[in-house]
Amino acid sequence: MKLLITGGAGFIGSNFIRYYLKNHPSDQIINLDKLTYAGNLENLKDVEKNPNYKFIKGDICDFDLVSKLVKEADEIINFAAETHVDRSILDSGDFVRTNIEGTRTLLDAAKSNDNKRFHHISTDEVFGSLEPKDAPFSEKTSYDPRSPYSASKAASDHLVRSYYHTFGLPITISNCSNNYGPFQFPEKLIPFFITNLLEGKKVPLYGDGLNVRDWIHVDDHNRGVDLILQKGKIGETYCLGGASEKTNLEITKFILNEFGKGDEMIEYIKDRAGHDRRYAIDFSKIKKELGWEPQVKFADGLKQTVEWYRDNQDWWKKIKSGEYQDYYKKQYEKR
Ligand code: NAD
Ligand code: DAU
Repeated sequence: MKLLITGGAGFIGSNFIRYYLKNHPSDQIINLDKLTYAGNLENLKDVEKNPNYKFIKGDICDFDLVSKLVKEADEIINFAAETHVDRSILDSGDFVRTNIEGTRTLLDAAKSNDNKRFHHISTDEVFGSLEPKDAPFSEKTSYDPRSPYSASKAASDHLVRSYYHTFGLPITISNCSNNYGPFQFPEKLIPFFITNLLEGKKVPLYGDGLNVRDWIHVDDHNRGVDLILQKGKIGETYCLGGASEKTNLEITKFILNEFGKGDEMIEYIKDRAGHDRRYAIDFSKIKKELGWEPQVKFADGLKQTVEWYRDNQDWWKKIKSGEYQDYYKKQYEKR
């Protein structure tokens, strides 16, 4: 089996490649990644010499390149995306281009190469925002995206389903909740706060800090994706969650505690525009049909993640010293 992975130099994709090569040692992987600010080949240093792994630098919007790679592959798994909500608020152009146009390009390449198997990685954000007492999102929840990021992901999901219904393309989609774990770019809540504390800086909490996310370890997400590839029903969507709803304040206090710090390190700042209040996932479909459920306990996973950022300071310090800082300067100037 030969897999074409897109966006494999990012957080979830690089963890997937490592997981997949370990668990399917006779399969091959081609990793197509544009290496945007979020793509980092250092995430894959330990597998770059594996004869079953090949990296290609390129854009999922480039039909000729994509089509050539799709021809070589048996399955396509699309992780590539612009992923950070705050960036989509500053400028949505790349989100529309990569997440919508890029997905369409991949779908057309899969269609024109004998309808190749296509798995699309999506997010719970397409379902919108929950009130505290609302039932969690499930595969039956209507789409209601509220940020340019989630709107672009919703559009890509609709395109993927449309290629199944219209052209019979053998697709599956997974909508997952907030991931955490090693190699996550330090603009996202958990690695941003951990690395700030390692630098002796305060942590900026948006609004009242009571927005809720459902946290899942990246390995649990990737095990679910692998299971869908092996046993998922064509045309179906699967929701994956961590059974771990936490307010941002709870996450912050947990991390502060790992550093022996208290509330004095929290800086409450202006809220994110259109900030979704709560996400939660009902993963009973994939549990019942494929026997998947999250295995990593949140407290254990978060402790290990804090340790990983403590032990891999070279990795994130390089990132934080570059373009990342210019971006955050612009963000803070706007407040
Ligand atoms: P990330 O931002 O860490 O990585 C994205 C990767 O895509 C990078 O390597 C980047 O270089 C690459 N990329 C961007 N534009 C590209 C293009 N035009 N062509 C080729 N490559 C391109 O993202 P992540 O957090 O690993 O997310 C991966 C996928 O999972 C995304 O589709 C995202 O929407 C989805 N998702 C993420 C989460 C989460 O909590 N991070 C949760 C659910 C779903
Ligand atoms: O739900 C899945 C989604 O999770 C993915 O589809 C996205 O790609 C991923 O970025 C993530 O989106 P969020 O907006 O939930 O993640 P983020 O880490 O940006 O923020 C998590 C929460 O923490 C959110 O309520 C905003 C808050 N926050 C975030 C940052 C970066 C802060 O309070 N302060 C911060 O500095």
